[in-house]
Amino acid sequence: MKYPSHEECINWYKEQKTPDNIMAHVKKVNEVANFLAEKLTEKGIRINLEIVDKASLLHDLDKWMCINDKSIDHGFETERILTKKGFPDLGFYARQHRADIILDGLNSWEEKIIAYADKRCNDDNVVSLKERFDYVNVKYPAKDIEKRKREMRLFYELEEEIFRIIGISPDKLPIR
Ligand SMILES: [Fe+2]
Repeated sequence: MKYPSHEECINWYKEQKTPDNIMAHVKKVNEVANFLAEKLTEKGIRINLEIVDKASLLHDLDKWMCINDKSIDHGFETERILTKKGFPDLGFYARQHRADIILDGLNSWEEKIIAYADKRCNDDNVVSLKERFDYVNVKYPAKDIEKRKREMRLFYELEEEIFRIIGISPDKLPIR
């Protein structure tokens, strides 16, 4: 399967008139995701690096539309766009980054890495999960506090799982 180049992915954001701050964010998430995927691969885990690379870069393709139209379902719109472009698998992995989807279980490393990398980036700053959730809880207050707490707990568990394998501390991500 031939996936789009980085340049094509960036052009698809331009089609959506995506502003610079969102572009900076997705590039940073892409960097974190690629780093984690590489490290986990070094530890013997089988990961499709191309999917992690492209789907992490495309994960917020619908973000600007969603900001402008609250009726659009974040993630699912990205999946729809990417399916239309001929990449339903990238659409699936991009959609799975939505924080609430972890409640149903993330089944592959590709899904886990992309969802987690997003939770380590506030705009284009690499932050701790705590900083990220503090930010999200103010910016997008939870309608269901218990549900938000379960999501947060599952992301902390995922962090534990990832960094136990990689063998570094989560605050030692060499990406700033
Ligand atoms: Fe994101």
